[in-house]
Amino acid sequence: MSGIVTRTIPKVLPSPRINHLQHVFKPLVSARQSSHSPLGSTSPQRKKVTLPTLQAMHKRKEPITMITAHDFPSSHVADQAGMEMILVGDSLAMVALGMEDTSEVTLDEMILHCKSVARGSKSSFTVGDLPMGSYEVSPEQALLSAIRMTKEGRVHAIKLEGGAEMAPAISKITSAGISVLAHIGLTPQRQNALGGFRVQGKSTAGAMKVLRDAIAVQEAGAFATVVEAVPADVATLITNKLRIPTIGIGAGNGCSGQVLVQVDMSGNYPPGRFLPKFVKQYGDVWGEATRAIEAYKAEVKERSYPAPEHTYPMRKEDYEEFERLAESSMLS
Ligand code: KIV
Repeated sequence: MSGIVTRTIPKVLPSPRINHLQHVFKPLVSARQSSHSPLGSTSPQRKKVTLPTLQAMHKRKEPITMITAHDFPSSHVADQAGMEMILVGDSLAMVALGMEDTSEVTLDEMILHCKSVARGSKSSFTVGDLPMGSYEVSPEQALLSAIRMTKEGRVHAIKLEGGAEMAPAISKITSAGISVLAHIGLTPQRQNALGGFRVQGKSTAGAMKVLRDAIAVQEAGAFATVVEAVPADVATLITNKLRIPTIGIGAGNGCSGQVLVQVDMSGNYPPGRFLPKFVKQYGDVWGEATRAIEAYKAEVKERSYPAPEHTYPMRKEDYEEFERLAESSMLS
């Protein structure tokens, strides 16, 4: 029965001739709104966040907020909560698809999730992450993947991991009119080559490499860059040297903005799961969902749910007639 739209039934029907229709229409008065309606009663729309909005925020040193989303509801809530940017990060490989790491997720899978996130976001600036294998072979491959993600995934920009070595790909994509968010420092798609999820730029030489990468992606045309798992002082100095914003994750509060993975910061994971040091848990979505599901189970078991207020009424006479017919009929 999903998909039923509530209709407004006139209180007074226009002529006595059709007044008898009132009882025909009556059940429709309580027809339910589909519980799968995509949008709730949304608060007033914010102005759409665009690249000039982000550039203006950067100019006046207002921190830029970004969070990941992997589907319609996680995007809808982030948009309604006022996030300036939403990232369809390839971390969805683990948090939405239950994969071991990000190397498994494909471009097709990312595009499917981008579409769903794009539908949930009315004002936030959405960015889709190019997954491993979809952009490293050549700038042409990178551009083709970026075009697919933009046309099919409906995002406003793409993100790719890598520094100076990715500059030709960034140039190629941006010269085709697609905005690129770079990602330097710890690049999780290369965790095996980096020897795991290691903090980057801890030595003088390492910090210089991150700085060189930052300048290279800026000169190649990236509109901003994620800086992941870099000492705070290094990230601050790099931020001060760049014309484009830095979006930090595990890089201290001297960056131009911050990004976190939504399931991490909202506490939507079971107790005991590993969390990186930089994550702050702002909510307890797992606990709240568990309490709700356990309460629902208990009430179904003791038959206190559904209560009368959760059921649809029927006129007593109609029910009695139905009961009489059902008893007397030859239904097998
Ligand atoms: O995939 C992701 O979620 C990311 C962010 C952590 C920056 O790349």
